[in-house]
Amino acid sequence: MLATAMLATVVVTTGCGGDGEQTPPADGQALYEKPHDDGNTFACATCHALAEPTADGYTRPAHTIGEAALRPNYKNGQLTSFLDAVNTCREHWLGTTAFAEDDPRWLALEAYLGGVAEETLGGAQAAPLSFDIVDAPDDIMGGDHEVGEDTFNRTCIVCHGASAVGTERAPAIAGTILTGDFVALKIRRSGNAESAIYPNLTPGRMPFWAADRLSDGELRDIIAFLAMSEPVIDVSDNTGGERVDLSQDGAQEGCTKSHVLVGSSLTFSTKAHAVAGTATVIDDCTIHLDDFSFDGGGIDVHVFGGSDGNYSGGVDLTGNLVGNSFDGGDAVIRLPGGVSLDQFDGLSVWCVPVGFSFGDGQF
Ligand code: HEC
Ligand code: HEC
Repeated sequence: MLATAMLATVVVTTGCGGDGEQTPPADGQALYEKPHDDGNTFACATCHALAEPTADGYTRPAHTIGEAALRPNYKNGQLTSFLDAVNTCREHWLGTTAFAEDDPRWLALEAYLGGVAEETLGGAQAAPLSFDIVDAPDDIMGGDHEVGEDTFNRTCIVCHGASAVGTERAPAIAGTILTGDFVALKIRRSGNAESAIYPNLTPGRMPFWAADRLSDGELRDIIAFLAMSEPVIDVSDNTGGERVDLSQDGAQEGCTKSHVLVGSSLTFSTKAHAVAGTATVIDDCTIHLDDFSFDGGGIDVHVFGGSDGNYSGGVDLTGNLVGNSFDGGDAVIRLPGGVSLDQFDGLSVWCVPVGFSFGDGQF
């Protein structure tokens, strides 16, 4: 689904050559402001402003390039040619090939950006730029979701749209189930994973945000905001009825979605008593069981959390299920007070007195 939505529009050009039409001269400003015919939906101006603060008030992921034509070097000193710097962006971010040095489009873009630099600097040389690509912080909790919405709507908005509803440049994030750690990784490390210029990126068309473009504090606020958005993947009961609540008394509710397991699913193996179905971690204290089956037999049977497939001595997540039969319905387990997702990585329909799993799986 996502991949299809992200495919660049294929621009079919007709009428060139054969019927006597002239190719219009390349317009440097348009090549800066608009997507390129042979590229994806990104323009230079999607990621770079010429100068800041910007007219629209947005902060874009990459640094300003109004002075770039007159910088002595590029990309932390790794490149000395302006054309090479721009071509890296063509290849890495616009998803197309490098400009040849005599390509009229390059000459037009160079003339435009050269003119902007000349105007800004009055003939002086620009200072070189340096920036740090950093790891996602270990601690991503504690942000302010209201501040985060404003921050999102000043930064990520350029591609993901207001309040993360998506645009032709990037998918919706509101309403998807993602872990906070994954969002943090996208912000800090997304890009062309093959890149020699930017090492250690995690694959994606989204550009990373260097340390000085977005602080860890802003990152936490954005994650707090995204965690408040409701899931759109359908977690309601697919039979139209209510989810059966298997939680113990005093179970937790209203948790954030920050744990690395949020969004993970497992499929129960069937070992005894017709156990089947899937389980999905919805937030830090909620697990949904879908299409869940269990014939209700046994002596004292609970859903247990365990690690590495080991459930004896695991964490008891429900009351005794014996006598309740489930035939492909949906249920919810909210974690008991004091229990956290850190304590297990899989679930079993566990027969306590015998120490036997009727069916289990790992997230
Ligand atoms: C998807 C985002 C994206 C797009 C689109 C993009 N760039 Fe970049 N560009 C970056 C990132 C990220 C960097 C490296 C970090 C930085 O400079 O902020 C960069 C760096 C550069 C640099 C080097 C800056 C320096 O001094 O080190 C230049 C020049 C540049 N881009 C020009 C362009 C031009 C011209 C276009 C349009 C053809 C373009 N970029 C399109 C993201 C993008
Ligand atoms: C220059 C455009 C651009 C900007 C700005 C941008 N993104 Fe993205 N983002 C994308 C694109 C394109 C994708 C899908 C491809 C990919 O995963 O890299 C994406 C994907 C993502 C994903 C993964 C979604 C999924 O379902 O897998 C997350 C999370 C995300 N972006 C968060 C952010 C946040 C937070 C910000 C602001 C700090 C931001 N993005 C800014 C373009 C952008």
